[in-house]
Amino acid sequence: MSDNRQIKIFDTTLRDGEQSPGASMNLVEKLEIAQALIDLGVNVIEAGFPIASPGDFEAVQQIASNFRGAEICGLARSNERDIDRAWEALKGAHDPRIHVFLATSAIHREFKLKMSPDEIIERAVAGVKRAKGYCDNIEFSPEDAARTEIDFLCRVVEAVVDAGATTVNIPDTVGYATPEQMGKVIDSLVNRVPNMDKAVISVHCHNDLGLAVANSLAAIDNGAGQIECTINGIGERAGNASLEEVVMAIRTRNDAYKYETSINTQRLVPTSRLVSTVTGLHVQRNKAIVGRNAFAHEAGIHQDGMLKERSTYEIMRPEDVGFANTDLVLGKHSGRAALADRAKTLGFTLSGEQLQSVFIEFKKLADRKKDIYDGDIASLIEMEILGATEKEWALVSYNVDINFGQTPKISVTLSRGDEEKSVQLADGSGAIDAAFLAVEKITGIGLTCKEYSVRSTSLGHDAVGEVSLQAEYEGKTYRGRAATTDCVEASIIAILNATNRAIVANR
Ligand code: KIV
Ligand code: ZN
Repeated sequence: MSDNRQIKIFDTTLRDGEQSPGASMNLVEKLEIAQALIDLGVNVIEAGFPIASPGDFEAVQQIASNFRGAEICGLARSNERDIDRAWEALKGAHDPRIHVFLATSAIHREFKLKMSPDEIIERAVAGVKRAKGYCDNIEFSPEDAARTEIDFLCRVVEAVVDAGATTVNIPDTVGYATPEQMGKVIDSLVNRVPNMDKAVISVHCHNDLGLAVANSLAAIDNGAGQIECTINGIGERAGNASLEEVVMAIRTRNDAYKYETSINTQRLVPTSRLVSTVTGLHVQRNKAIVGRNAFAHEAGIHQDGMLKERSTYEIMRPEDVGFANTDLVLGKHSGRAALADRAKTLGFTLSGEQLQSVFIEFKKLADRKKDIYDGDIASLIEMEILGATEKEWALVSYNVDINFGQTPKISVTLSRGDEEKSVQLADGSGAIDAAFLAVEKITGIGLTCKEYSVRSTSLGHDAVGEVSLQAEYEGKTYRGRAATTDCVEASIIAILNATNRAIVANR
């Protein structure tokens, strides 16, 4: 057995990750991500902030009662209402954890909380004790710890550990710390807090200066035993430490970082894809570990080296992080077994029912396009599994007549249950504008488009086009996404997807 120290991976994609602007997720999407996190092997899932909204509460409750294999955590400010609500959501969990936080830095004490240092300690201790009345597994975070005076931070940590905190998390809330500083903070806690051996030290780094991963690694080098991170590094502002980067740094440079994690690294790319699809936050091509170009060698001299000996230019194997070999193409004659096998390689585990509905869509796609690549299949599966979870309006048919330099003419028919409605318009600056106007005319929901993108999921000009958009309705942002070989059709479905979310949210 290796004597490497085990580091706990605490995933906060569903909580801090959801705080990324425009990344809010619905219940079905959160459950799908929770399953992916379990399959990935994270130790703790922070499922949400139960007091924040009824939707957050329900998501934490459902995840707590339906998933085993990881501790399920809910966030609460250090007050009775928050903590009681968090427990209400978490109590069905097999292994619940309440995460209580209170800001400790001078800036927050003075300007936000208007509380003295002693009052802060009193409130923190009261919060931990209240939570401890519900369960044993309590995490406490002194918010903005990295900017808190070290003497005061040591006092707070000692007090909350005495009150029963089993994990003390050190957040660099504003992403201001440097690796040296973060290392020193953890070292001071280890060496100066007399009861530090009674709790695990955790670290939670934001990425405002691009240092979140480096700061997290410096923390474990100085005694931290847990890293809080998110898939694709999403999160408040510039995001959190990226889970895939932390995990692969530890694994690839095990000579330098003598630690271990429980992560099944082959699930990193599928989980990254899922989170990107669900949140609408695209992963940049050159993103470390999971970016599309992370293993693409462009320069001739590199390609030559790779052919002679992979290790000349490759420090990790793409298959180790879950990039599947994309050479295998499926088509019209491929059967259900081949599709199931391909789905598995891409990281999706489909139930019999899901496989059947994906297979029907696969056959329709095969009629429209000869070669079906991994990107097309992943997109089909994501559409079928996540698809339009808010079942309101659906597209029945459409027709657009566009002539160069002229106003488009569009006719659209939509259905909702047994009801069918059609509209015909000659309006808009182009096909997509006309589609927005037609959908608005039928549904009565006028979205303001904030972002619209279309990209191909695979090779060739017959590729599936994936449309994703963000649109505003009554001050809130809604996402829409769809993928078909016809970009206008995909656009209308994506508009309907966002419209349906707006309808459900405004009921
Ligand atoms: O960044 C932060 O300080 C947080 C805490 C709630 C842990 O997200
Ligand atoms: Zn945070």
